[in-house]
Amino acid sequence: MKALKLAPAGGRLGVLLPGMGAVASTFVAGVELMKKERGAPIGSLSQMQAIRLGRRDENRSPRIKDCVPLARPGELVFGGWDLFPDSLLEAARKAAVLPRETIEAVAEDLDAVRPMAPVWDRAYLRNLTPRLDPKKARNKWEAAALLREDIRKFQRMSGAKRLVMIWCGSTEVLPTPGPAHRSLRAFERGLKADAPEIPPSMIYAYAAISMGIPYANGAPNLSADVPALVELAQQTGAPIAGKDFKTGQTLMKTALAPMLKARMLGLSGWYSANILGNRDGEVLDDPGSFKTKEKSKMSVLDGILDPKLYPQLYGSYHHKVRIDYYPPRGDAKEGWDNIDIMGWLGMPMQIKINFLCRDSILAAPIVLDLALFLDLAKRAGMSGVQEWLSFYFKSPQCRPDLRPEHDLFIQHWKLKNALRLIMGESPLDHAGLDYYDATANGQRPGRRDPELALASR
Ligand SMILES: NC(=O)c1ccc[n+]([C@@H]2O[C@H](COP(=O)([O-])OP(=O)(O)OC[C@H]3O[C@@H](n4cnc5c(N)ncnc54)[C@H](O)[C@@H]3O)[C@@H](O)[C@H]2O)c1
Repeated sequence: MKALKLAPAGGRLGVLLPGMGAVASTFVAGVELMKKERGAPIGSLSQMQAIRLGRRDENRSPRIKDCVPLARPGELVFGGWDLFPDSLLEAARKAAVLPRETIEAVAEDLDAVRPMAPVWDRAYLRNLTPRLDPKKARNKWEAAALLREDIRKFQRMSGAKRLVMIWCGSTEVLPTPGPAHRSLRAFERGLKADAPEIPPSMIYAYAAISMGIPYANGAPNLSADVPALVELAQQTGAPIAGKDFKTGQTLMKTALAPMLKARMLGLSGWYSANILGNRDGEVLDDPGSFKTKEKSKMSVLDGILDPKLYPQLYGSYHHKVRIDYYPPRGDAKEGWDNIDIMGWLGMPMQIKINFLCRDSILAAPIVLDLALFLDLAKRAGMSGVQEWLSFYFKSPQCRPDLRPEHDLFIQHWKLKNALRLIMGESPLDHAGLDYYDATANGQRPGRRDPELALASR
């Protein structure tokens, strides 16, 4: 197989972060610690995971970071926007995700990242009021132009050679679908006419994508998941991915539900409750923002279990998701799942999960991987929706006529095969038949029959 032609990864990579709260500050603190060789990037595939290349008997399993030409974390520089004037240092202290001494070890680096003035619209975010003056623009078109100016200035000041943008801002109220979403022309007209269906996250996405900058969306906001911005991404050569980082409960769901389906165990109900007390929890206390999050969390089970194909097993299960804002917990979220399942002859059984997770600790490595993989995609000339990055999202963005893939294991396989293809290696199918086909094919074990499946298993 031929590797894709890749532009080199040298020079600084600027990571633009609209939203400099718990996730963003935890991510940057981790990278700055890595630069000082004081932090382990646990949870990051790009930094820790090995990837098997070729057949099992070739024993080639290098680390992804050693065989895929990714930007190095030491080359990352950061910029961003927020509704609050806090630097990343203050944001990290307030979010209190990391222990004080960990934050203080990179205090200077975090303090150097100060937010630029945001684009803000109360209609889309009701529970937060900015303390940093939002941009004064006559309309949304001008707001996008001001964001582009910020981006150019950041690139000049930071010396970044390439840029990526990752939305780490709050969950907005979902916009009503409108004409501006349907095509790029209509979107640009909508920006000039202040179309109400264009929320701030779409303006940030537009600004980045129009400059060919890769864009990922860590919230369930619609953001770049509209035909207009997909069209723009294809035109400008910007890779895009979303939506909503897959961290606590949904990570568990998309790992467990495939097991139920693989074993043909039925499901009669899945009740999920969460308490969390960070700023994200405060935002989600607003019913409008919660609805956006709920939609994102609810879709995964149907996507995996396929009730239409298995009505007897999954045709009538009850799925309920609750998120309660409970300040004493801060970022240390707690999630409970009660899962009512059925086995042989319809006999009921139960699974209980109590996950005491730390949301931003699970989200930070996702931000790092997305920054590096989106930059890789851009250098490989891949534009538009990057479905191979579904692994990182609760509501993976894909072509509108396809079903999004939610199964964590298929997503993982998809991600690694995409990396193999980018490098010119054969993708794996794991069938393993040709290790045992010596008699059938008259070949020595290990020789591949060209008629057999696509690659080494
Ligand atoms: N924490 C997680 O593990 C996790 C998991 C999945 C998704 N998410 C999503 O990621 C996002 C960030 O989470 P967080 O815990 O860091 O939240 P946070 O509340 O700590 O930070 C979000 C920040 O975005 C800022 N913001 C909101 N609107 C903005 C705008 N228009 N321009 C610039 N800044 C804006 C807010 O002021 C806030 O500081 C949320 O949407 C959340 O739902 C988080």
